Amino acid sequence: MSGHSHPSCKIGPSILCADLSCLADECRRMMQSGADYLHLDVMDGHFVPNLTFGHPIVKCLRPKMPDVYFDMHMMVQNPEKWVESMADAGANQYTFHAEACEDIPTLCRKIQESGMRVGVGLKPGTPVETILPYSDLFDVVLIMTVEPGFGGQSFMEDMMSKVQYLRTNFPYLDIEVDGGVGPSTIDVCAEAGANMIVSGTAITGASDPSQVIALLRNSVENAIQKSQLER
Ligand code: DX5
Ligand code: ZN
Repeated sequence: MSGHSHPSCKIGPSILCADLSCLADECRRMMQSGADYLHLDVMDGHFVPNLTFGHPIVKCLRPKMPDVYFDMHMMVQNPEKWVESMADAGANQYTFHAEACEDIPTLCRKIQESGMRVGVGLKPGTPVETILPYSDLFDVVLIMTVEPGFGGQSFMEDMMSKVQYLRTNFPYLDIEVDGGVGPSTIDVCAEAGANMIVSGTAITGASDPSQVIALLRNSVENAIQKSQLER
């Protein structure tokens, strides 16, 4: 797994449940509220029972916010199919699902060669062991804390054992959590060792998103500080 410094806290709002007819405005609102990156959920109606958007939208969004880090959460079958188009559209991270991929190492290399960071996502039922043989090939592991497909679902706390396992064995890995993460569930994520925090409805639905982002950041930064003191 790449990276040789302790992973820092990054908050990535998911705009899935925001007003998608004003996508650029919603994305700007998130960045102005203190987000570190944007988590963009791509759904194909096959891997998950829902549809969102694909690379043409990302390509239109990119010139409106040239410096923002786009994490593409690819909830699609055949994730190898969209690597070039997403790279061309300006994506920074390509997070595919291990369950949707037949040849994980080849896909990881393809993503890396296209200039994007490599993320591997695991649905709640998929054990971390599935991806351990390829640990040198990815930059981020995304632990889903809901079944992918919809925003606003309840957080699955039992996924924290996956986060803990990864943090213990891969101290420099970026570990991302996604699904039901908000003020009431951030502390367990932070303590387990997650450092990339995706949060949808808790941020986009808040009357003051900047307050929620600050609260999430505070929890993660405290946990990182605590773990460094314990070393
Ligand atoms: C769910 C998506 C999430 C979703 C999170 O399949 O991957 O990114 O938007 O939304 P909340 O935080 O509301 O669960
Ligand atoms: Zn997501």
